[in-house]
Amino acid sequence: MELPGSEVVGLFLGFLLLSVAPRSSARFVVEKNSLRVTSPDKIKGTYDSAIGNFGIPLYGGSMAGAVVYPKENQNGCKEFSDFSVSFQSKPGALPTFVLVDRGDCLFALKVWNAQKAGASAVLVADNVEEALITMDSPEEDSSSAKYIENITVPSALIEKSFGETLKKAISGGDMINVNLDWREAVPHPDDRVEYELWSNSNDECGVKCDMLMEFVKDFKGAAQILEKGGYTQFTPHYITWYCPQAFVMSKQCKSQCINHGRYCSPDPEQDFSTGYEGKDVVLENLRQLCVFKVANETKNPWVWWDYVTDFQIRCPMKEKRYNKECADGVIRSLGLDVKKIEKCMGDPNADSENPVLKEEQNAQIGKGSRGDVTILPTLVVNNHQYRGKLEKGAVLKAVCAGFEETTEPTVCLSIDVETNECLNNNGGCWQDKTSNVTACKDTFRGRVCECPLVDGVQFKGDGYTNCEANGPGRCKINNGGCWSDSRDGHSYSACLDFGKSKCQCPVGFKGDGVKTCEDINECKEKKACQCPECSCKNAWGSYECTCSGDLLYIRDHDTCISKHSVETKSAWAAVWVILIGLAMAGFGAYLIYKYRLRSYMDSEIRAIMAQYMPLDSQAEIPNHMNEERQRNRDDRHWGLAAVDLMFEVFTAG
Ligand SMILES: *[C@@H]1O[C@H](CO)[C@@H](O)[C@H](O)[C@H]1NC(C)=O
Ligand SMILES: *[C@@H]1O[C@H](CO)[C@@H](O)[C@H](O)[C@H]1NC(C)=O
Ligand SMILES: *[C@@H]1O[C@H](CO)[C@@H](O)[C@H](O)[C@H]1NC(C)=O
Repeated sequence: MELPGSEVVGLFLGFLLLSVAPRSSARFVVEKNSLRVTSPDKIKGTYDSAIGNFGIPLYGGSMAGAVVYPKENQNGCKEFSDFSVSFQSKPGALPTFVLVDRGDCLFALKVWNAQKAGASAVLVADNVEEALITMDSPEEDSSSAKYIENITVPSALIEKSFGETLKKAISGGDMINVNLDWREAVPHPDDRVEYELWSNSNDECGVKCDMLMEFVKDFKGAAQILEKGGYTQFTPHYITWYCPQAFVMSKQCKSQCINHGRYCSPDPEQDFSTGYEGKDVVLENLRQLCVFKVANETKNPWVWWDYVTDFQIRCPMKEKRYNKECADGVIRSLGLDVKKIEKCMGDPNADSENPVLKEEQNAQIGKGSRGDVTILPTLVVNNHQYRGKLEKGAVLKAVCAGFEETTEPTVCLSIDVETNECLNNNGGCWQDKTSNVTACKDTFRGRVCECPLVDGVQFKGDGYTNCEANGPGRCKINNGGCWSDSRDGHSYSACLDFGKSKCQCPVGFKGDGVKTCEDINECKEKKACQCPECSCKNAWGSYECTCSGDLLYIRDHDTCISKHSVETKSAWAAVWVILIGLAMAGFGAYLIYKYRLRSYMDSEIRAIMAQYMPLDSQAEIPNHMNEERQRNRDDRHWGLAAVDLMFEVFTAG
């Protein structure tokens, strides 16, 4: 560790940091993204890779590229331009993912060198067989800080064995295509994202503190929109350390800790003799926590962002304004109750636990999938630690990736994160050119083709090639995609709001109902209005029939009648009813006559046959009684068959 200031401070800091370890077995969770090799076939598959803690990972997104392993400068520690190597991909070609070896220099420098040479992403192959680790940027190193700020490409560490597999395939002349995928890097179970920022009020810790302050300022707007809309639940957190029991009374612990060594923070200047002390930082961190708690009680937790940014501006250490007076001024100007906040902070000199800070120490030890928070600052989204540059666009991507698909709020679709793929060729989705209704929906994950809901009317379909307005009200929109026309003050539509068939030409028209409906010439095609006195005139969608002389046209009967006969019509109808009644009675009588004739013949013929025809053999029937019965039965068979025969003849005659 090269730390400025006295050796003693360095040692002491180390001690403080180490003292955290025994409390838990310091579980650090490596956040992973998935790396999928899509070709060649022999190494096809999904491999783990650990997201680097710098650069800009594409949370919620993915990226395809071709892997290149440089022939020289394989560890990427020197500038690639020194070897006249460029990774710039040709237009239309896949972006280049540069594979470099771990070792000899900072991870960040390898990634920076590769980025400068045109790499779109960097894969660092581990040089030892081990579980994946997180590639971090150096804590305080002003020379590297300059370029780390400018690293924009995502980077990932891969296992040694996988690195060797890739190198072997490359030397064998294979073209290696991979897909880096951050879509599952953040769980996205529901429509609310919980996220935490582990930060520090200390504004004099160098590059990392500057970066954190810059981030808080930049992100504030988006954070507040998300929080006010109920899309997110944000919680600020602060790391504290504790002083080992044996040192509680030491000068160092007294200056860096409150509550008798229970909550400590390293001295901001790393010099005990001058400036602010660690305990000033602990107190301000505690105040910021209490600002959040008090604001949260009145249901406006987003005031924390205002307080923190205002405090940075109004009360910096540099201007020696990092104190209670200045802080109280900020609290008051935000309309918060100073008394309530003081009460929440408690007595820093008491030899007892502070409930607020105790809770923070408990939260620091990771529960579940999150792991311990050891890097400052750390962002935790849906209980997963964010890896990458703390920068507004990148963090917004990560937060937005935490929403269940299509539930993300509009801020997620703002210019910082959206690509608006719908502008280009409507994203390849269905679109109705006449009404501008489109199925293309831009989300920061990329576009989705989904049939829309317009004016309360749901469109249904595959979203790519077709969407159709559905249900009541569908005719309001673009006439439901059906034919419609109007002429001479008459309007006709083929759209049906209900029923199975959606477009059906109205009465008086024929056609498919979608593109065309043609007028039917009722005079010719329907033979309407054809009575001798009628004269037919076709119109658009209907026809007109006029009768000559004094006659009146009755549309229902398609005939002309005398105006005067209209009154006698009912009398005529009565006569008709009687005539029809008589006719029906006559027919009924005839039917009865026929039936009786048939029964009569039935018995007549039976009698004749019984007399003249031998109906069965009379031999071999032992019992007289049986014989009689048998005869009767056969008699019936014969009889019926004969009648049928006779009847046939009879009717034919
Ligand atoms: C980083 O980017 C800034 C702004 O684009 C530029 O001024 C600066 O020189 C860059 N730093 C390095 C080390 O390239
Ligand atoms: C903030 O308030 C909400 C409810 O209003 C509560 O669920 C949440 O736990 C509170 N957060 C903290 C850190 O107290
Ligand atoms: C549809 O969009 C085009 C181009 O943006 C515009 O000219 C046209 O007026 C729009 N039509 C409707 C019905 O909104």
